[in-house]
Amino acid sequence: MSVAALYQPFEFKGLKLPNRVVMAPMTRSASPDGVPTDEVAAYYARRAAADVGLIISEGTGVARPASLNDPNIPRFHGEAELAGWKKVIDAVHAAGGLMAPQLWHVGAVRSRREDWAPAGPYDSPSGISSPGHRFGEPMSDVDVADAIAAFASAAASARRLGYDCVELHGAHGYLIDQFFWDGTNERDDLFGGPTIGQRANFAAEILKAVRAAVGPDYPVIIRLSQWKQQDFAARLAPTPADMEAWLQPLADAGADAFHCSQRRFWEPEFEGSDLNFAGWAKKLTGKPSITVGSVGLTGEFIAAYGGEASKPASLDRLIAMLERGDFDLVAVGRALLQDPLWSEKVRDGRTAELMDFERSAMATLY
Ligand SMILES: Cc1cc2nc3c(=O)[nH]c(=O)nc-3n(C[C@H](O)[C@H](O)[C@H](O)COP(=O)(O)O)c2cc1C
Repeated sequence: MSVAALYQPFEFKGLKLPNRVVMAPMTRSASPDGVPTDEVAAYYARRAAADVGLIISEGTGVARPASLNDPNIPRFHGEAELAGWKKVIDAVHAAGGLMAPQLWHVGAVRSRREDWAPAGPYDSPSGISSPGHRFGEPMSDVDVADAIAAFASAAASARRLGYDCVELHGAHGYLIDQFFWDGTNERDDLFGGPTIGQRANFAAEILKAVRAAVGPDYPVIIRLSQWKQQDFAARLAPTPADMEAWLQPLADAGADAFHCSQRRFWEPEFEGSDLNFAGWAKKLTGKPSITVGSVGLTGEFIAAYGGEASKPASLDRLIAMLERGDFDLVAVGRALLQDPLWSEKVRDGRTAELMDFERSAMATLY
């Protein structure tokens, strides 16, 4: 099957992408003391030079004392940190690429390191890290307002440094998703309640603040998932009506595109339709959407953490869904982590040169 559909240009919110291939955000923990190094800049520039249409950075922390749970994950605030990020975007632009930082707050997902702790208590909507696990105090009104402002300020920095757009990490059981999920959000104020629409208020307020900070024309993407690292079977929206109640307020608040995280892109979201999450997000909101999850590989990414290797897999099903218009963009994680030339090889039909994904790639920054 021809891969031509992947290499058609796409424009949204004035951002002209040369093709549909997006590098998925992947934490690399290779930025000592939160400052991206020259090696980090070179790592992204290698992908930019090899026909990746849009790069989304690894998650990078907003200015709250415990927005990150590892000292080697890059921050997106502070003079040295932003100077590092400036080198990254300059290197990516010099290689002909486009890039967004993924703005991140880990919330209640605590550090696994015993020799290190963040500068303050972990933020969370209700002091709950997963259903039934209470570990601390809920965020106060002041904490919530400060977290919203931290996202807005990071987005303003992204624009100032020359990044082409920005992505908010609202997925995978981290802070924004902890507000979405009734398993971790027991608040009864503006930011909680029995409906997904109420629990979407935190994200909506962040989007409004980000929009005010970056202006009306700057593209803002939000990444979402039904699944959580705390519970792969969790579903914020069990029906299309719930999904609309979740996504429409985010679109109204300023989201220009939805990045819909699944572990396997081909899995249908609801019974009775073969549309996946990105397909439903686009259908319900009319906004562009990005799919992701095991594109071009046989195995999925959680198993990769356990050491599972993956082999190159056919793109036929993905291309058929893209050609049908289910979604607009396709994010690729491990295949691009393993091989900076993945997109170029796919474009040119060099399938014999596509690489297996090996866990060892996660320890390097090539
Ligand atoms: C090493 C690694 C780090 C990741 N870090 C992030 C992250 O910082 N933010 C995020 O939203 N997703 C993160 N993910 C998930 C990926 O963006 C992607 O959704 C997932 O790997 C599935 O895509 P794939 O099957 O093409 O690898 C990470 C995945 C991997 C393998």
